[in-house]
Amino acid sequence: MANRTANLQRFIGALESSIQARAAQYPAAMPVATRIFTALKNSGAVGETAPSTRLPVCDHLDTAYNQGRTGPGGIPELTDALAAIEPALNWTRRDNSAQIAGNFHEGHANAMIIGKGGLETREDVRMGVSLIAPGVLYPRHRHPPEELYVVLSPGEWMQNDNPLAFKKSGDLVHNTPNIWHTMAATKTPLLAVWSLWIAP
Ligand SMILES: [Fe+2]
Repeated sequence: MANRTANLQRFIGALESSIQARAAQYPAAMPVATRIFTALKNSGAVGETAPSTRLPVCDHLDTAYNQGRTGPGGIPELTDALAAIEPALNWTRRDNSAQIAGNFHEGHANAMIIGKGGLETREDVRMGVSLIAPGVLYPRHRHPPEELYVVLSPGEWMQNDNPLAFKKSGDLVHNTPNIWHTMAATKTPLLAVWSLWIAP
């Protein structure tokens, strides 16, 4: 673990605990979770030190953290661990978001935690965090890597073009490869951590 900071290790441990705590309710998500956290026992390369950047939407972070800190089980610790690494993160917008009509461009931000521009880079796992302002819908999207979200601050989630469904703090969202999915913030900001298994 020579390259990994204590704060990043704390975050990874808290994320693993939060996912394991829900294993009984999400059995189909456990194989990818096991692959991800087994791989993360070895640290990757230190990420390029890009300057950390916040976007205006990040003003919603404190409200989202307050929601996470009232969550179940290990979610308050995960929230605190995220808050501890957040000053080092580089918040960005989704590619081409300026071309999407409505409030999405100004109303969202993503930050890579593990992956290009993040705190560690590697070929097997990508991990990050998404923040969505109240009343904003993220465009539906899909991608080949299997994905597991942990909800910190509640909101609505869609999979497979089914109706949006409310997810509470601590709930998981497991996206199988190429499934259409998205999320929408209700009256409070939505904050969630995502992990992707990107190895072949
Ligand atoms: Fe996704």
